[in-house]
Amino acid sequence: MIKRITKLGWVTIILIIFFSVIGLSHLTESKPKSAADQLQRETDILPKEQIPSMYPDIQLFLETDETDLYRMSVETPVTESDTINENIKQWVTDQKNDFKDDVDDNQYEEKHPNLHLALTLEKVTDRYYQIHYTKEINGNVHFTKTFNVDLDNEQMLSLDDIFKMNDNTRDTLAELARENRGETNIPDEQLDDMLANPEQWDWDINRDVFSLHMDIPDEKESGKHPVSIDIPLDSLYLSFSDQIADIIDMSDEQQQAMANAIQAEKERIAREKKRKENLKAKASAKQEARAKKVADPNGKYIALTFDDGPSADVTPRILKTLAEHDAVATFFMLGTEVDTYPDIAKQVADAGHEIGNHTKNHKNLTKLEPYDIRNEIGYTSDRIQEVTGKRPYLVRSPYGAYNDTVLQDIERNKNSLALWSVDSLDWKTRDKNAIYKEVTEHMTSGSIVLMHDIHPATADALPSLLTALEKEGYQFVTVSQLMVLQGLDGTGPHYGMSAD
Ligand code: NI
Repeated sequence: MIKRITKLGWVTIILIIFFSVIGLSHLTESKPKSAADQLQRETDILPKEQIPSMYPDIQLFLETDETDLYRMSVETPVTESDTINENIKQWVTDQKNDFKDDVDDNQYEEKHPNLHLALTLEKVTDRYYQIHYTKEINGNVHFTKTFNVDLDNEQMLSLDDIFKMNDNTRDTLAELARENRGETNIPDEQLDDMLANPEQWDWDINRDVFSLHMDIPDEKESGKHPVSIDIPLDSLYLSFSDQIADIIDMSDEQQQAMANAIQAEKERIAREKKRKENLKAKASAKQEARAKKVADPNGKYIALTFDDGPSADVTPRILKTLAEHDAVATFFMLGTEVDTYPDIAKQVADAGHEIGNHTKNHKNLTKLEPYDIRNEIGYTSDRIQEVTGKRPYLVRSPYGAYNDTVLQDIERNKNSLALWSVDSLDWKTRDKNAIYKEVTEHMTSGSIVLMHDIHPATADALPSLLTALEKEGYQFVTVSQLMVLQGLDGTGPHYGMSAD
């Protein structure tokens, strides 16, 4: 008997140990909240009472729940659409669960934290209501959230319902949001972040404004406060979707104004298109005329060149004279002078003249090491390209001095050495009559004439020189055009023709 009891005792002890282990493991398993637990929590909330709503289409309910650990009060709308109700309920449930999780994790300093989900309801039209939620914890705003309820289609309105959403619209909205931020004190970074992500925007719209809502940190940092950027509707007419008038029930005046804006924009685009076409036609006519001018290799032509510039006074004078005679020329510029007068260098290029490279510092290249030759020429090509957008093809070495090392550099960089066949001697005489005489006596068709756009006498001589050349039937060409006419190409040096 005693033995049997003892046996039974052992069995009991073993069973107790067995179930303890099972029970313990069961306990540790169920510590993370199970789905059943979650469901249990949602139904916890009691009591549920109806609160007055201004609009019969949407009823409002207040749910409260108080435990030893927390308190929550949640306002919920109920519409005739199950889809909409579910949509909002899902969000509300998420907020409640987040709060409870945070309470479990001791995220709140307060002993008995309090969640309040408050809503305000705004009717925009019979079909469109705005529901604005504020999530407050212990009286501090954590964030706000807007639902744009479309009762007709039983769904939330999206930005695609309001706008023709494309890159253009996104840019316009971002620009207008920045323009209208006013005194909102939104930190730049936060605004930029929001504007870059339209899918995350909290927004609404009424007959006056499209509003973007953000929550920015309080100075005390205990919570946030909501701010809105209001963009006037009339600045958005060109971006709206076709159904906007119906959604917000625009007034007849607004619809008319919107139609007018769209019409005006259409006309503006058409005008702009026409203007561009005209410009293009004009430009190609000018190009054609110029090509025609140099098209006849049997006609007389001459390439005027101006070295050592650009300069502040003489270069603009020369440009003016050339323009008056519809003549083109070639300007061999110094890198240092391009640095000093980048605007004038650009004017020369913009006027259709050719720009060549006359090195950086006007040194005799034959006395330099290869590295320094490269620097003298390369620097200047870089600067001319920066200023005019075009890299020069022609190089003219100072004093016309070159050797094999210079030619090797020019060849390696696929440039062409362009010297001259007629020296105006303007650098020596500095006299307008002497310049005129020197050029007219030595030139012939195919000449490249050396002058300098740094001596006032050169600018003085130019009007009568051009008039005389025109009278003799000369066409003015750039050095590159002259080389094409004479079949010259490659490293060079190229000189042009002389009467001597
Ligand atoms: Ni020079």
